[in-house]
Amino acid sequence: MVKVREIIYPFYDERIETELKEYGITEVFSFGNVQLGKYKIIGKGKTGTVVYIGGGKVVKIRRADSPKESLKIEGRIQELAYPVAPKVHYYGNNFIVMDYIDGRHLEHNEKVEVIVKLLEAAKILEDKKIEHGELVRPYKNVLVSDRVYVIDYDDATIKENPKNVTSILSWLKRVDLARKYSKGVPFDQIVKELLEAFS
Ligand SMILES: Nc1ncnc2c1ncn2[C@@H]1O[C@H](COP(=O)(O)OP(=O)(O)O)[C@@H](O)[C@H]1O
Ligand SMILES: [Mg+2]
Repeated sequence: MVKVREIIYPFYDERIETELKEYGITEVFSFGNVQLGKYKIIGKGKTGTVVYIGGGKVVKIRRADSPKESLKIEGRIQELAYPVAPKVHYYGNNFIVMDYIDGRHLEHNEKVEVIVKLLEAAKILEDKKIEHGELVRPYKNVLVSDRVYVIDYDDATIKENPKNVTSILSWLKRVDLARKYSKGVPFDQIVKELLEAFS
């Protein structure tokens, strides 16, 4: 186990440590494929580090150099995004505790099953009025295990006409289908036309 202060990144910030301790997070596991100094962690991004805390849960800790003062909005939107997003247990200004997903990132040339699951996830987010905001380049923001999860709601917003499906279709270089979907062609029809290209 590692003292939580050791993995506050990229420099120590007392406010982060204090809040984590208030929520009982005092020690974390050196576990994962990403090296952070002497320790291993699950992931590192532009606003947070993700660390295993045991019991199938991780904590995303706000980076001390993040321009965002709080992760509360992100935590709230991610909570709404369940079950497309990993389940959120609790969150504060400096952290989000969520389920650990033992999966891999999205790759180029994914199998059609994964693509369809991803489009369905994108559609569910739209039904929940959530625009993820970073799905045109989905690699890092999608985890694939037995299911497809959309992670990282750092840029997500709530809006009346959220665009996620068209972002995925653009990533797939199917601007034709993106345009059809925008014009109101039903989601199932879009998936059907996409499947034709794979068959
Ligand atoms: N619930 C999770 N389970 C497993 N790995 C995760 C989870 N959440 C994030 N990660 C890993 O941590 C990385 C960074 O998390 P992310 O939320 O994207 O942070 P940032 O907002 O800093 O980009 C992700 O790319 C992913 O590899
Ligand atoms: Mg990220």
